[in-house]
Order: sequence, then C-alpha cells, then structure tokens
Amino acid sequence: MLILNKTAGVFFKPSKRKVYEFLRSFNFHPGTQFLHKIVLGIETSCDDTAAAVVDETGNVLGEAIHSQTEVHLKTGGIVPAVAQQLHRDNIQRIVQEALSASRISPSDLSAIATTIKPGLALSLGVGLSFSLQLVGQLKKPFIPIHHMEAHALTIRLTNKVEFPFLVLLISGGHCLLALVQGVSDFLLLGKSLDIAPGDMLDKVARRLSLIKHPECSTMSGGKAIEHLAKQGNRFHFDIKPPLHRAKNCDFSFTGLQQVTNKRIMKKEKEEGIEEGQVLSSAADIAATVQHTMACHIVRRTHRAILFCKQRDLLPQNNAVLVASGGVASNFYVRRALEILTNATQCTLLCPPPRLCTDNGIMIA
Ligand code: KG4
Ligand code: ZN
Repeated sequence: MLILNKTAGVFFKPSKRKVYEFLRSFNFHPGTQFLHKIVLGIETSCDDTAAAVVDETGNVLGEAIHSQTEVHLKTGGIVPAVAQQLHRDNIQRIVQEALSASRISPSDLSAIATTIKPGLALSLGVGLSFSLQLVGQLKKPFIPIHHMEAHALTIRLTNKVEFPFLVLLISGGHCLLALVQGVSDFLLLGKSLDIAPGDMLDKVARRLSLIKHPECSTMSGGKAIEHLAKQGNRFHFDIKPPLHRAKNCDFSFTGLQQVTNKRIMKKEKEEGIEEGQVLSSAADIAATVQHTMACHIVRRTHRAILFCKQRDLLPQNNAVLVASGGVASNFYVRRALEILTNATQCTLLCPPPRLCTDNGIMIA
C-alpha cells in the first residue's frame, strides 16, 4: 500500500507498522471490521478467574472464565490461600483464551483493566501482578477498576441507561444501595450492617448440606437455594424480615441466618437426623429463607426509591432501578423487585444472569 508523504512530496513504501498506525488513526482495520479502542479486562477478586476483550462500543470480542465454586463447595467455603493458588494456576490460560477468542493480538490492545478492590487480598493480588507484568511487557496503559462500580455499570453494556439511576448490588461479598450519578459518582444510600445476602445463602446451604443433595451438588449456595425453593412451601415457617422498623436503607442478614439455623436444628431433632444429612424439609426452609431475604431487600429498596424521589434525586416517573451482583440473578428476587418497581412507576433493569455474577466483561 502506498501513502503520500507530503513533506517529501514523493510516493514511498511504508513499513507495516506505519500502515497500521495510519489505518488506526481512521479507526479502520484491514479486513472487514472497524477498529475501536479495545480493552482486556481481568477479574480475580474472589473465586472466579475471568478475562474478556471488549471494544469501546461494548462488543464482547472474546471471553473466558474459570469458576472455583466446586472446589470451595468441598472445603465448605472459600479458603483464601486455595483461591489464590487456583487463580495462579488458571490466569495465564484464561487470559490467553479470551485473547484467542477475540482474535486480537495483544499488541492491538488499547489498555488493560483489572479489578484492584474490593475483594480477597490474596485473590486480587494474582490478577494485579499478572496485569502489571503484561502492562510492562506490552507497554499499554493500566486501568484500575473498582469491582462494585463495574457491577453497577454493567447494565450500560446491554441497555441504554441515563444517569442518574438507582443501583442495588447484592452478591456474596457485598450488599449496597447507591444512586449512580456518573461513571464514578456514587451516592451510598445503604449497606449491609453485617454479612451480604449471598454469604447468608451460602451459609444456609452449607448448614443444610445441599452439596449432598443430588440436584444441587455443583451449585453455589444461592443457586442451590433458588433451585430447591421452587419445590418448597414458603409458608411452612414464618420468619420476620430483619430491620423492619429501621428508618434507613441498611440491610442485615446475620439474624436471618441464625433464626434459620435454629429452625434447621429443631427440624433435625424432629426428623431424628444428625447435622450433615439432608432434611426432608430442606426445600421448605430454602423457600422461606429466599422469600424472607427477598422481602427484606424489597423493603429497603422501596425506602431508597421514596427517599430519592422526595429529594428529586431521581425522576418521578420512569426512574431506573438496576439490580446486579450474584444474588440479582435469582428470579424470585427479580420478580419481587419487579412488583416494587411497577408499584412505584420505576423500571427494573437487570443484566442477564451471566453478567450479574463476576466476569471479565464488566471489568473491560
Ligand atoms: O457477584 P458474585 O459472583 O461474587 C461476589 O462478588 O460475591 O456473587 C456470588 C454470590 C454467591 O454468594 C452465590 O451464592 C450467589 O451470588 N448466587 C445466588 C444465585 N447465584 C449466585 N444467590 C441467589 N440466587 C442465585 N441464583
Ligand atoms: Zn461480584
């Protein structure tokens, strides 16, 4: 290919690198596709090693993920040193897989984005040191990413959402309600005073020994509870939602976990079984816990909607509530939130379940 060298006023054959630079300046890539800025995202904050290559218009060019769920289910929870080792064992392969799927050469990346907080320090460290090494090798810019901001903004990949909107982040490590006023402008309205809802579900699932249940043995605690709850009767027990008199938007899940544990112990006595065996009423307990958790989440979110509308922080009509994080992939919770948003003239938006749980796309 020939390009005009204006200063010399003559035609010359440029190097391949110059051709690419020239084409890139016009956002054009040889072949069929347009070249946008392309970011590699890397996520290792908890128990998923994930990577994705996304362009600036939101096209996912390649993605890969390794979940540690099965290993941690066997050890009865996440052991940070085990998670760290598994991230170390997999990160190279996962990043390579995401890049290969995208057919992007590492040198064509515009930047590398990586979760730097919050999360398990040992897990975060693996992603961070891998990324910094890559950044050094490829001489690319590094973009530090806040894990919760990434969860909150993922919806902009699938829907056109204007600021401000309300976001409810419910996962295994986090629980918060915030008003999103810009890409990194968040007003925190409420948070969990103790554990996160996913953590509570994981603990209840473990106490119910759902790993021994043939239908749930490979599922995360929250997924196992959702699965079993479909077969259960939520009216079998009556548990009051926590903090129901608190005049704020905070959450609490420890009390719910403790009351549920007491119920489980009582049932074990009645059924004459030991801890570690699956109760015949496990599905009823799952349905009750899921229902009570959903009621609590909806009540606190309702308060946040009213607060924002009273202060004109959100529009009176068609305000958007975004629910994200692992627990937001729960359809019972989504349905409960939908009832709330219908009643308050809001619109509920949830990323598809695979984008609710941790992934590399939201980081990229
Ligand atoms: O967002 P995420 O993948 O990781 C964190 O940042 O925590 O969320 C994982 C959490 C786990 O506690 C898991 O039990 C829960 O989300 N979870 C669910 C469901 N799928 C995953 N909870 C309720 N229902 C589900 N379907
Ligand atoms: Zn997360």
